[in-house]
Amino acid sequence: MYEELEITHNQCLTCTKCPLHKSRHHVVFSDGVPNPKIMLIGEAPGYNEDIQGKPFVGKAGQLLDKIFASVGLSRNEIYICNTIKCRPPENRNPLPEEKEACWEYLKEQIDIIQPKIILLCGNVAVQSILGNVGGITKIRGKWFDGDEKVHGAKLMPIFHPSYLLRNDSREKGSPKWLMWQDIQEIKRVYESLG
Ligand code: URA
Repeated sequence: MYEELEITHNQCLTCTKCPLHKSRHHVVFSDGVPNPKIMLIGEAPGYNEDIQGKPFVGKAGQLLDKIFASVGLSRNEIYICNTIKCRPPENRNPLPEEKEACWEYLKEQIDIIQPKIILLCGNVAVQSILGNVGGITKIRGKWFDGDEKVHGAKLMPIFHPSYLLRNDSREKGSPKWLMWQDIQEIKRVYESLG
């Protein structure tokens, strides 16, 4: 598995399939372990990720780590990647043609790893994998049964940590409170996998 991922990673490092390669400092391929039960798919690298070449290393990533740590999970149990592997300028949303060009790499990551659980972090990841199933506030916390494209993984859309950083309330029903419910449900199903 490790060697297969390295082949895809190396292809990514020299990828010029979309114009984002011109402005990137680093391709941001993945972090975490290569044989996990959980895969998290984010949106796209931001400033810090582009500089360091690792996903979710900025403020949003630190919050993500805290969310996982709250139920005893860490990057040692999760494979973390993004819908696209190069930073869009000014952190704008990825364009359809950028997502299309990068899909092959994400698909290979899913095919090689075949995680049991896939967390879709924010609308961009949801759209890429599930298509038009509604906005994140409506569908977060719900389990979706994956088709053959994701090898039957259970999929859950969750809020993006950047959204949680902009919505700081912890009151009942707030995005942070809902995230807390979701991560506990994720942990419950994770543990039931044995
Ligand atoms: N936001 C993302 O969606 N991915 C990252 O890697 C960092 C921030």
